[in-house]
Amino acid sequence: MKVNIREYRDSDYDACRALWVELTQHHRDIYADQSIGGDDPGAELDSHLKDPKRAKTWVAERKDSVLGFCSLIVEYGSGEIDPVVVTKSDRSKGVGTALLQTAIEEAKSRGMRSVSIQPVARNVDAMRLYRRLGFHILGHIDMTLYLSSKASNWKPGITIHGEEYVYYNSRYM
Ligand SMILES: CC(C)(COP(=O)(O)OP(=O)(O)OC[C@H]1O[C@@H](n2cnc3c(N)ncnc32)[C@H](O)[C@@H]1OP(=O)(O)O)[C@@H](O)C(=O)NCCC(=O)NCCS
Repeated sequence: MKVNIREYRDSDYDACRALWVELTQHHRDIYADQSIGGDDPGAELDSHLKDPKRAKTWVAERKDSVLGFCSLIVEYGSGEIDPVVVTKSDRSKGVGTALLQTAIEEAKSRGMRSVSIQPVARNVDAMRLYRRLGFHILGHIDMTLYLSSKASNWKPGITIHGEEYVYYNSRYM
């Protein structure tokens, strides 16, 4: 599939707003919580575009139609890719990889020593992709103590420093 990666323009706003809604929907699905993002999840794009730490945003485009976008955030000289999203019907075709590689190249060209990405642990497919692209160093980890008496379906399969951890993935419920 011929996809062009280029810098974000103001005329991409509506397409990227719709993609932000898809990003939120993905998180609603994997958390099984349709309230995530509130009534107007696309509004998050406005704060993102105003964020002074946002260094650059790219869109993936095919025949004038925007299929995905990602941004490089720079803070204290370190790079973070946030967000990255591809429209559902065009996932698993290499579009996300092309966007991520563009952001990685930008971080390299700015002389950064590293670039990171912060998926939630239950975003298994996204994590597999990042791992394959070379993101193999773990930084900060959120550790959660579950206080509710409501039963939940945790999935095992993560070992760190020899200890077992669980995560939640609605696909396994
Ligand atoms: C995560 C995300 C951005 C990845 O984008 P993508 O376009 O699907 O990514 P790619 O196609 O480059 O790679 C994904 C898969 O396609 C495969 N792939 C890569 N290039 C391919 C190609 N040319 N043809 C077919 N498959 C390809 C990869 O091997 C990978 O395999 P997998 O199915 O085992 O994971 C996208 O899935 C998405 O928007 N998810 C929902 C939102 C989200 O979770 N964002 C990340 C938050 S941290």
